[in-house]
Amino acid sequence: MKKVFINGYGSIGSRITAFLKDDPEISVIGIGKYSPDEKVNLAISKGLSVYVPEKKTDDFKDFKISGTIESALDDCDLVIDASPGGRGYDNKKNLYGPKNIMAIYQGGETTMGNFAVSDLLFNSRVNYDLAIGKQHVMQGSCNVTGMGKILEPLRNKFGDQLIRFDVTLVRRWADIEQPEKKVKDTIEMTEEPHQGDDVKTYFGKDAPLFVRAIKVPTRQMHLHIMDIRFKNTAPKPSEIHNVFANEIGVATLWTAKGTKDVRDFANTMEFNFTDTNMIHIHANMTVSIGDTVQMMYSDDQTGIVIPENHMLMQSMLFGKSYKEAFAHTESIFHLAEKKQKLEEFFAKKD
Ligand SMILES: NC(=O)c1ccc[n+]([C@@H]2O[C@H](COP(=O)([O-])OP(=O)(O)OC[C@H]3O[C@@H](n4cnc5c(N)ncnc54)[C@H](OP(=O)(O)O)[C@@H]3O)[C@@H](O)[C@H]2O)c1
Repeated sequence: MKKVFINGYGSIGSRITAFLKDDPEISVIGIGKYSPDEKVNLAISKGLSVYVPEKKTDDFKDFKISGTIESALDDCDLVIDASPGGRGYDNKKNLYGPKNIMAIYQGGETTMGNFAVSDLLFNSRVNYDLAIGKQHVMQGSCNVTGMGKILEPLRNKFGDQLIRFDVTLVRRWADIEQPEKKVKDTIEMTEEPHQGDDVKTYFGKDAPLFVRAIKVPTRQMHLHIMDIRFKNTAPKPSEIHNVFANEIGVATLWTAKGTKDVRDFANTMEFNFTDTNMIHIHANMTVSIGDTVQMMYSDDQTGIVIPENHMLMQSMLFGKSYKEAFAHTESIFHLAEKKQKLEEFFAKKD
């Protein structure tokens, strides 16, 4: 059994931890907390050992912590860093690198420039095998992972028929479990969004992909608006939807009026958290006009990267084949069942 430490227990870290506790191949040795707040006792009540930075030990004297993050790391095979964007780089430099520990980083980090945490940005659908044998790998962010789940199957199916992709990312303001983050009544424009360059690390640096991003006042998922241009007449919407019929991690929905409908239904599915762990093509919005297909899909921001972290972990820790890792991830996340339930509930009405 391999020992894994999760450094950071926010939206992403708490989810990864919950799923890893169900994995018989993994022993979760603990989680790292940085603020002495109510989440410390919440984690302990779930049977987790909580570790804190050595220099902050005094701040946690009122809590039953298990020791320092520095000491916990000495006893682990891999750390999943789930810190706020940019801190992963510092952790690599100060902790994981010197201790020679394998580490997974999240999408708030970068694989480019002076602050790169890795030379590999992971997307299981595209480059699973490249993570085998790697010491440090970054999981793509939720938007980057979502775009990959659409672009790669399209590339596999239509190849050089594809001329250009224009994507507008309509990003959520905050996560549901971040009540402290106020949702501002404004539409914020993002200059030079990183997501396009991130996708190009696996899609090809000269890929004709053009990304714009805005942030809107919602906690209920991201929505991507994508125009796909073809060399000749574009395929019919049904041909586009067929490409995704067997893609686990992509559900095709017809009757969801908005992102909250999807989230509310996820709430009734009785899985961990109110996550679908996938993207949802809003099939009623797909249109084919001349050489262009217009489509929209929503992206479960907090859920989508969790099975991806699980796939990545298996690649790095065990060197499993894609097929083996996928089967094991599926046994824990039940993505096929979730896809089926979503597609049945939001099925086309005649
Ligand atoms: N939220 C999403 O939808 C989403 C989706 C995909 C990817 N990501 C990426 O995932 C990463 C984590 O995001 P999040 O939304 O989970 O953030 P979050 O909810 O703000 O949680 C961050 C956690 O990191 C802890 N932390 C603080 N300083 C740290 C340090 N130096 N080292 C390690 N942990 C530290 C915090 O601990 P305390 O609370 O104890 O201070 C907190 O538990 C980011 O890179 C983000 O871009 C987020």
